[in-house]
Amino acid sequence: MKILGLETSCDDTAAAVVDESGILSNLVYSQLVHRDFGGVVPELASRDHLQKIVPVAKEAVVRAGISWNDIDAVAASTCPGLAGALLVGHSFGQGLAYSLGRPFIGINHVEAHVCGAILSHPWLLPPFVALVASGGHSSLFYIDEDLRFWLLGQTIDDAAGEAFDKVAKMLGLGYPGGPAVEKLASEATEPWPAFPVARLGPGSLDFSFSGLKTAVLNYCLGYGEDFLHRLKSDDIARICRGFQEAAIMALTRNAVRALDLTSCCRLAVAGGVAANNALRKRFDSLARQHGFEVAFPSKDLCTDNAAMVAWYARILAETGRAAKCQATVSSRCQWPRYQKL
Ligand code: KG4
Ligand code: ZN
Repeated sequence: MKILGLETSCDDTAAAVVDESGILSNLVYSQLVHRDFGGVVPELASRDHLQKIVPVAKEAVVRAGISWNDIDAVAASTCPGLAGALLVGHSFGQGLAYSLGRPFIGINHVEAHVCGAILSHPWLLPPFVALVASGGHSSLFYIDEDLRFWLLGQTIDDAAGEAFDKVAKMLGLGYPGGPAVEKLASEATEPWPAFPVARLGPGSLDFSFSGLKTAVLNYCLGYGEDFLHRLKSDDIARICRGFQEAAIMALTRNAVRALDLTSCCRLAVAGGVAANNALRKRFDSLARQHGFEVAFPSKDLCTDNAAMVAWYARILAETGRAAKCQATVSSRCQWPRYQKL
């Protein structure tokens, strides 16, 4: 079964073709229009998706070595994300599916991130715990035997990736901030500042990153209002390291707690922030210490891509759940209501 996946939930226009053997093609066009703004401008994102969705999808089909008629189903991210951006991939995908006489499968983008880990590690069978840390979300799920998602915790304010981006913006490092902060953090020499890690009450698996962001800003302001001119490159590296350490602590602490609470011994860590090498190393060492297995998507499947969308659609089709995603499909920037475990 060949599935064309489409992804336009934020600032990447992506298309991929998968079949039972794996990925046949996987294209991502990352929008450049947002660079001058230090963050994603929703209206510009929608317009750029409109320009790129057709050429990117065509190229994915060509590189897969197939023709349009070989496609058995079309899938697209339909929630959550930027409403106008989602609509582009969704409308194009639904129109294409209709014209080909094939089914259209609407996909939850955050759940698809977890399927990026499954795609990279076929041994990752449910039940398991999944942490999705991206630019828009920081969520912990329990995934049951039927691959159903149960929410264990989520951010009550900023997402982890958003915090990386905002700290990078504060320090004049550009957008997206994650890779730049990671690079400088790896060059830092001790001592680096110890920033606070939010605790949201006993037993809570929720996250909060806005206090950490404010703590970084207050620390910078200690150098004066014009701190960007006063900070030396060593100081910036140390601030990046202190921030990254606190963010990693917040993510790993709740994930390990979730494994304890659910008695699970498998963990998937997905989303753009999962590309961070320091986070991957910390999880690897915790896995050895606590005796669980940890799976990350390959680096190219951590950030937004359409292979994870197509792969999730394959799993839903194989387990007879794709029909539900056709009957109820509509683009939504909000989550569906998850049941808390
Ligand atoms: O999953 P993703 O591509 O988009 C969303 O669904 O939001 O994640 C993008 C986020 C950005 O905030 C980016 O700064 C962050 O992932 N990111 C990283 C790294 N690479 C990307 N954060 C930390 N370290 C990285 N190496
Ligand atoms: Zn994403």
